[in-house]
Amino acid sequence: MADSDINIKSVLQEDRIFDPPAEFMNRSGGAWIETMEQYSTLHAQSIADPEHFWGAVAEELHWFKRWDTVLEWDCPDARWFAGGRINACYNCVDRHVENGFEDQPAIIWEGEPVGDKGPETRTLTYGDMQREVSRCANGLKAMGVGRGDIVTIYMGMVPELTIAVLACARIGAPHSVIFGGFSAQSIADRVTDAGSKVIITCDGAWRRGSVVPLKANVDEAIGLTDIVERVVVVQRCENAITMLAGRDHWWHDVVEEASDECPCEEMDSEDMLFLLYTSGSTGKPKGIVHTTGGYLVHTFLTSRYTFNLRHHEDHVYWCTADVGWITGHSYIIYGVMQNGIPSIMYEGAPNYPAPNRFWDIVERHKVTHFYTAPTAIRAFMKWGESHPRQHDLSTLQVLGTVGEPINPEAWMWYHRVIGHEQCPIVDTWWQTETGGHMITPLPAATPTVPGSCTLPFLGIDAAVVDEHGVEQPANTGGLLVVRKPWPSMLRGIHGDRQRYIDTYFSRVDGMYFAGDSARRDERGYFWIMGRMDDVINVSGHRLGTMEVESALVSHDAVVEAAVVGMPHEIKGTGIAAFCTLSTDWKPDDELIETLRAHVASEIGAIAKPDMIRFTDALPKTRSGKIMRRLLRDVAAGREAVGDMTTLEDFSVLAKLQSDEG
Ligand code: WTA
Repeated sequence: MADSDINIKSVLQEDRIFDPPAEFMNRSGGAWIETMEQYSTLHAQSIADPEHFWGAVAEELHWFKRWDTVLEWDCPDARWFAGGRINACYNCVDRHVENGFEDQPAIIWEGEPVGDKGPETRTLTYGDMQREVSRCANGLKAMGVGRGDIVTIYMGMVPELTIAVLACARIGAPHSVIFGGFSAQSIADRVTDAGSKVIITCDGAWRRGSVVPLKANVDEAIGLTDIVERVVVVQRCENAITMLAGRDHWWHDVVEEASDECPCEEMDSEDMLFLLYTSGSTGKPKGIVHTTGGYLVHTFLTSRYTFNLRHHEDHVYWCTADVGWITGHSYIIYGVMQNGIPSIMYEGAPNYPAPNRFWDIVERHKVTHFYTAPTAIRAFMKWGESHPRQHDLSTLQVLGTVGEPINPEAWMWYHRVIGHEQCPIVDTWWQTETGGHMITPLPAATPTVPGSCTLPFLGIDAAVVDEHGVEQPANTGGLLVVRKPWPSMLRGIHGDRQRYIDTYFSRVDGMYFAGDSARRDERGYFWIMGRMDDVINVSGHRLGTMEVESALVSHDAVVEAAVVGMPHEIKGTGIAAFCTLSTDWKPDDELIETLRAHVASEIGAIAKPDMIRFTDALPKTRSGKIMRRLLRDVAAGREAVGDMTTLEDFSVLAKLQSDEG
């Protein structure tokens, strides 16, 4: 664990309270949860009898066979809806076709490039999805992919990405989606850890007008591992790529030959639906395991209640995340599609070709529900109000945020400039591991306070406790835990049982420890204070400081590296790296650029340090542990404070501080 203090009183004081706008119920045609009283009663009941609560939700989904028990809990192992048989793709697609919604839009896709006739768009109905997904599923089967075979997906934001994900679910092959910004090395690590023999990718992906060479990255990754046997390639950018005969296949060839009928596999409720790699305290990313029944139940209900999604109200929902992150899995695909709501997929950057792109999309597609990250909101603030002001945003009903704490200034801007003070903001706290929302306002019911994610979702027993599991008094920082299991909780870390227990169930006996510190105010509202481990949230993307350190020391020049987060105006947290160099290298600007590029090629561009400082030595304790707390102060330009009695050599710190600027 990092040496962060949990007993500090948060400095953030916030007295503004925003009741749900009076007009909200009219504009949205009603709400699932209408009042705080209703929420409080339901929450109390759901905690007193979670099995009854979640069992009733599960009744709303399609099961081939009903479950025997709602929950079997033997900490840290949960089995939800054991004995039940279900298919995720069936619940997202086929069910709507069967209910007569075949012609309703499922995905509304918009490409990044804007030609003379405007941007390219594609709408796929539920009927289209059923046929396209079935074709892809049959294509995969013909390659020998079957139940339990993990398929890696490394693609841009094109409809085929969602089709591929659902095709895997359809045939019971767990997917492992890797964000398209990761490097060849990162792909190789994940493919090896997952034992994945098939990769689905694109020739390239459009990003801010240029092409990200996805297929070339895959080729390089395959050179670093020997397990990949097949690659399926979607043609998107028509960039030059090489296709290896026997191994590489064009998507259009694979699906063209395949039948558009493919039955859904009857999966066990606890069968793995997907693996998703995320960063932790060590250099090695962990493959978070999510299973089928509970994940579907939880993402279905949270999508419905948190966003107040209502099938018959012409809702158009847009989550701006990439499918490569958990937010895209749960709230572009599984949760939203189970609710039968059209989900927008946008391929590119928020400011391409101009900083009004998002608002142009909202206006043209009449978006009613919009979900994004604080880092994006801060970028929009910087680009200025004139861009959203050019567009009619009056269709918007609910605004969401996720990924990192939202600063009150950004919250107020979102509220005023995007929501015109008419849209509740749902600040949703959750994690890759939790699968779905855990702490969040409900739009028609919960009064909101800028910067607070407010109260636990129904069925979620979240608390702020000390190391012994005792709840902290109001306004006192502590560990954020969840005391009872919930349906979409992770079931493990792929291939590493011990790490699962150590990371999540060892800090506080019998409780899930999230890795965040938090406090509750006198209203009981939660305020997330930040990560307590060596994880940083860069633009809402989760990175382990150790991963960046390993990447740095893998370069010849670097002997030792310490990486910490530092305040960053747009990203929320930026990356600061302190490096000691081997004597053959000169500490100059050129080396800084070389090292930044090196980290990008080892991990991905998101991990590039914002600041690199060369130093003769790193501040360490007498036992040799790097004192990151002090480095965080230096990186933030603050005077280092707090206990330094264990610091081995004061001159190191003094030098770092005097070199400031
Ligand atoms: C942080 C993203 C404050 C938190 C869904 C958590 C947040 C980590 C919020 C998980 C929020 C996420 N307010 N902090 N609303 N949402 N976080 O796994 O530190 O990429 O532990 O999941 O992001 O990041 P992950």
